Formats: sequence, structure tokens, C-alpha cells
Amino acid sequence: MDINLFKEELEELAKKAKHMLNETASKNDLEQVKVSLLGKKGLLTLQSKKIKEANKEDKPTIGQELNRVRSVIQTTIAEKEKEINDKILTEKIAKEAIDVTLPGNQIAIGHQHVITKVKEEIEDLFIGLGYQVIDGREVESDHYNFEMMNLPKDHPARDMQDTFYVTENELLRTQTSPMQARTLEVHDFTKGPLKMISPGRVFRRDSDDATHSHQFHQIEGLVVAENITMSDLKGTLDLFAKSLFGSDRKTRLRPSYFPFTEPSVEVDVSCFKCNGKGCRVCKQTGWIEILGSGMVHPNVLEMAGIDSEKYSGFAFGLGIDRIAMLKYGIDDIRHLYQNDIRFLKQF
Ligand code: DAH
Repeated sequence: MDINLFKEELEELAKKAKHMLNETASKNDLEQVKVSLLGKKGLLTLQSKKIKEANKEDKPTIGQELNRVRSVIQTTIAEKEKEINDKILTEKIAKEAIDVTLPGNQIAIGHQHVITKVKEEIEDLFIGLGYQVIDGREVESDHYNFEMMNLPKDHPARDMQDTFYVTENELLRTQTSPMQARTLEVHDFTKGPLKMISPGRVFRRDSDDATHSHQFHQIEGLVVAENITMSDLKGTLDLFAKSLFGSDRKTRLRPSYFPFTEPSVEVDVSCFKCNGKGCRVCKQTGWIEILGSGMVHPNVLEMAGIDSEKYSGFAFGLGIDRIAMLKYGIDDIRHLYQNDIRFLKQF
């Protein structure tokens, strides 16, 4: 065997290997090239078999040369493999990249309903005056909704507050007033006066029109302590009207009737639209009715176990829907319950 010819062939093979590897672009290509060079029938494997025909003294040189070329080929393959993997990774990163400069998906954020807004505004005012805010129940007993509010079974005023009965003695409450009796029963007067408001939903058998709804919202108010007089009622509700409708509003009290107050009054506020001159909003009277009120009836105190000789108080009940309608000039109560976004968005 001609050693020089062998070396030349090996050199040729190394060049060819380099060329083949240069041309590979994918993992598959590389695998094939690898087999065709180093596999069982690969070019280098065939070349190395020739060592058997070589002279004894040439064998070490041939061996060294084969090893050198094999090692060059293996390094090149390893480098090529890394190059291909890097390329795949770079492409993957580019494909999956997030463009943080793109605008995100807009999430529509809602806001409070106008009734909730007015409710919270009124709550804030009374909290500032030291009142507790107490939750009530929508399913109430006949006992608290009527009896304890001085409306016994045959009382004619019950007719105006017919409602849905859940059982014979449980009903959808027609007013928030039962919360008066409930809080009176549990209040500890040795700890100070009772001052509370109780907001919530009430239900009545009403035909729905622009100003009536079978379901609406009230806030009940109650103050009971020693020496509470009608001037406390007037001062408190005057402050309430001014805070809600403007500091230059006036209030007036008109005699009225409620079974649970004596005397009873209707509270009017001077029209904020025409300033009392008379317009459509106040039906030309210059005054707008905003709530019912009165001095707590002694029967109500006594039924709740409170000495009506020692304690006195005033109560009031207002419709949140009505106040909201007045405040924002809403002409139909049904708008408040139809969930039309175009309407609700305005507040
Ligand atoms: N509960 C009465 C109603 O629904 C409103 C009311 C009037 C409540 C006078 C009161 C009050 O506490 O003193 O018509």
C-alpha cells in the first residue's frame, strides 16, 4: 500500500467531509451526513479498513492520521449541530415573542348604579352624624312589618301595602319600618341614644307606571333617647335636604298620618329647579315632597319594651328611587330597573 496515496485520499476525504457539512442546514441532513461519514459503511470507516493492508512500520502513522481526521470531522459535526439548534431556538423565540407595544384587550369596567350612589351618599351623611347603618331582611314577618308598627290585623292602612305572602305570616316587606322595632328591641339605652338608618328593598302590590314600581328602595331612620323633640326631627331633616339638594334649600313640614308616628309629617323641600317660584318639577307649588316622618308613636316604643314616658324619638322614611329621580331629573322610575347601559352610563 502506498502511504502517500493513502494520505492524499484521506486529505481528499477530509475536504469532502468539510464541504458536505457546510451544506447541511437541518437536523435531518446532518444525521445523514454523519452516517455517510462515520457510519458502518461510511467513507471514513471504509478508509480506515485499509490499515490492514499497510506495512507494519506505516501503521502508526496511518492510525494517527485517521484519528486526526476523525476528530476534525467529529468537532465539525458538533459545531454544526450547535449552529442548527441555535437557529431553531432563535426562530422559535421570534415566533413566540409578545409585542408589548400592542394595545391590550380592553376590559369594560362598570360602575355603581345610580340608586347605590344615592344610597351611599345618604349613608355617608348620616354616618357623619353618628348613626349606625343596619341591614334588614327582605322577607319579613307580619309581626314586624305590621303589628309592631302599630298596624294590627284589621287596620285599614294595610290595604295600601298589600304584598306577596311567602307563608301566612311571612311576606315581602312593604317598608323598611320593621327595622325600627327590630333595633328598638335590642338596643341597650344605658350605652347611649339609638341613632340608626336602615336602607333596603321593599315590595308592594303596585301597578307599574312612571312613578310607581312593585319594587323600590327605602331608607328608614330612627333616633330614640331621652328628650328627643320635634325640633331634632326638623333640624336633622333640614340638614339632610340641604346636603342632598343644595345649601340654599328650605324645608317645611306638613301634617300627615302614619300609624307608627304621632304627630306625623310630610317633609317638603323648596324646588331646586325654580327656587320656589313654581314649575313643572314642583307642579307649580314651589315645594317637592321628599319623605315621611314623625315622632315615634308611644305604642311602637311600648311594644318594643321601651318606657314611652322616659324615652321619645323621631323616625323618617324616604324613597331612594324618588330622591334619585329628583336629584338627576329622571322622568320614569322604570328606567332605573331596565338595565339599559346607555341610561346607566350617565350617572
Ligand atoms: N314606612 C312609610 C312608608 O313606607 C314611610 C315612613 C313614614 C317611615 C314616616 C317612617 C315615618 O319612619 O316616620 O310609606
